[in-house]
Amino acid sequence: MSGLRATFRGGVSRGQTHGSPWEWEGLAREFPAVRLQEIPGDPGTGVPSLPLQVEEWESQNFNFYEMDGRLDALAERDFGPFAVDVLGGPGELARAAGEILTRCQRWMDRRNEASRGALFDRVLIQHRGSHDLAKPLVRADYDHALDTWQWVLRLAPDADLATQLAALFHDVERLASEADARVEHHAADYQAFKNDHAERGAELAEALLAWVGVDAGTRERAARLIAAHEHLPEPGDPDAAALSLLNDADALSFFSLNSAGYLDYFGPEATRRKVAYTLRRLRPEARRYLDGLRLRPAVAAELEALAA
Ligand SMILES: [Fe+2]
Ligand SMILES: [Fe+2]
Repeated sequence: MSGLRATFRGGVSRGQTHGSPWEWEGLAREFPAVRLQEIPGDPGTGVPSLPLQVEEWESQNFNFYEMDGRLDALAERDFGPFAVDVLGGPGELARAAGEILTRCQRWMDRRNEASRGALFDRVLIQHRGSHDLAKPLVRADYDHALDTWQWVLRLAPDADLATQLAALFHDVERLASEADARVEHHAADYQAFKNDHAERGAELAEALLAWVGVDAGTRERAARLIAAHEHLPEPGDPDAAALSLLNDADALSFFSLNSAGYLDYFGPEATRRKVAYTLRRLRPEARRYLDGLRLRPAVAAELEALAA
């Protein structure tokens, strides 16, 4: 049994995977905001950690909810450094760590020039403060918002401020309409329901962003992206690239983080429709990331059927 420790908020691993198996260099490139170290070895600091056995992670009845809850508690304990320890045989470690770290990436706090600094710190505080995290559905939406933002940066490390803000706030409307129970399965026209959700969310987000001091041009552009986020860019849309990026990030976050819960909440029939709807929002070049996700068998089977 060997292992890989990923330390969050503990510096980065530039050069530190040197001498490790070559697959780890790929992991370090994919997750530059965490520090990767081999276990056993010198863990450096005694940070609190979440240990995960690869065998458990891969079992049919792995409890994603319990893992997510433990991770959130660790990350929010004092907002200091913490680690995720992936434990397993050397041959399976890198692949499993990629899947596990993807599920944990909402807490990596990956940023770039556009999102480093006091303004974005204020945005994150305001964003968190608008979520009543005691409500399980709101907690799921909060995790999805952070995860979508991190997907944006993973797909486009130079993503601009408006796109990152749009990712964080794209589903903020659900705080008003679906905080206690989901209603989307009751919609007579699913696309119309989703467009309405997007347009209302844009208004809410713009007000919140004005409140924290985001300039008018940036927040209006973020709001336009949010208003359009439930469909692919119209022909001639001048912001098509950013909207496609937001769609890719949102769709990947659905598959990575939310699809298991969706299946449990809505059942297999609604999940089949949702998988097809979400796959249509994902550009071919972003679909390669689906291979690096751990999916429930029913979701994976539906994806395979659609690909065929
Ligand atoms: Fe949405
Ligand atoms: Fe979303």
